[in-house]
Amino acid sequence: MPLPIAVLVSGTGTNLQALLDTVHGHEAEVVAVASSVVGAPALERAAARDVPTEVFPRADYPDRAARDEAIADWLHARSARLVVLAGYMELLRERFLARFPSAVINVHPSLLPAFPGLHAIEQALAYGVSVFGVTVHYVDAGVDTGPVILQRAIELPDARDPDEVLAALRPLEHALLPEAVRLIARGALRRDPEHPRRVIIDG
Ligand code: GRF
Repeated sequence: MPLPIAVLVSGTGTNLQALLDTVHGHEAEVVAVASSVVGAPALERAAARDVPTEVFPRADYPDRAARDEAIADWLHARSARLVVLAGYMELLRERFLARFPSAVINVHPSLLPAFPGLHAIEQALAYGVSVFGVTVHYVDAGVDTGPVILQRAIELPDARDPDEVLAALRPLEHALLPEAVRLIARGALRRDPEHPRRVIIDG
């Protein structure tokens, strides 16, 4: 049985596309795509594959908690068992995370714990690093602080331009996120009991 997954988006949706092109219909089934932004291009990518979509604009709810609750209700109604944040530009609070325990993951364009939060690539360029990278991690209540699942690095010693770095990181993101979903779908991830931040990959 494919793992039913939901994808949360806010923008372009190239990572959603990577999931639709790889694991969808195989190890996983994308059963829901929720956007925080009306008209996000990611919604069209989902619709093109007949994946149900819903938009949850912040302005439609009295507060973030109410919006998060509505999203969690919709994802549960669609039977999602894993929530993938793919360019979702909002923080999720503990109440949402408690509804999907150890089942929310995110892709971030840096080698965490370096450069969490917004504008990770710009932060890395400003710091002057020569090695960039991508992290897929479990989501906790902090900003990009959850346990690391997969990381991949790339040396770009001459990089000066954020768009150039992003273009170099895209293929890494589009490989790592589906790979993490595959691992979760086959039950290959567990926490090291002696060090719960460490994620062990079986097999
Ligand atoms: C990606 O760079 C991802 O790492 C970050 O947001 C961006 C989303 O891009 N969290 P896309 O919408 O998947 O194209």
